[in-house]
Amino acid sequence: MGACGASAFPPEGLAGALTADLPRIAMIADRVRACGRCPLSAGRTNAVPGEGDGSSGILLVGEAPGRNEDETGRPFCGAAGRNLDLALKEAGILRPTVFVTSIVKCRPPENRDPTPAERAACRPHLLDQVAALRPRVLVALGRHGLSGLLGEAPPNFASLPGSFVAGPGGIPVFVSLHPAAVIYRQRWKEAYLRHWRAFGEWHRSGVPAVPGLVLSPPPSAE
Ligand code: URA
Repeated sequence: MGACGASAFPPEGLAGALTADLPRIAMIADRVRACGRCPLSAGRTNAVPGEGDGSSGILLVGEAPGRNEDETGRPFCGAAGRNLDLALKEAGILRPTVFVTSIVKCRPPENRDPTPAERAACRPHLLDQVAALRPRVLVALGRHGLSGLLGEAPPNFASLPGSFVAGPGGIPVFVSLHPAAVIYRQRWKEAYLRHWRAFGEWHRSGVPAVPGLVLSPPPSAE
């Protein structure tokens, strides 16, 4: 079993405890599964709308589904998913309580980067999810996750992991390295886990996030 062995979205028995609008999230997921706004829809086995109950107030945004995700319809399975699970464990955050999605919901062929047109076509789904989940904080998983959230590529990505930037609707974005990017880079993996430890402490502290707040330095600054 991959990193997605837990129960599928929507989870059972949680609706009463949530601030997220789960019926709206389910409606968006149906819309994503029926979506034909860009050519990626023609090549998918499954669209991957995202999953999690959002009860932690945390919404994680990656780049695009890979092969495992396309096969299962679930985000962050396989090696990247295992690294995401490590990060959440380091932060002391339970995966079912975050909502996990990506900036495009269908797998690009050969796992290439999504094109600007594909990103733009999928962005309304992402912004709908942000509006329905009303998260306390967004987490960009890597450069593409961040550019998808902001609607444009940040010029200085390397300086941002471990810190907060301003996101859509005034919601702060915590910037993380992508879980797949750290697989073969030990120094990055150490920074990645350090960032997530600091993020968990910040989350529990209740301290508001302001753009520019650095919880832990990026690997390039070490
Ligand atoms: N990488 C992503 O960015 N998203 C996924 O769902 C899986 C891998």
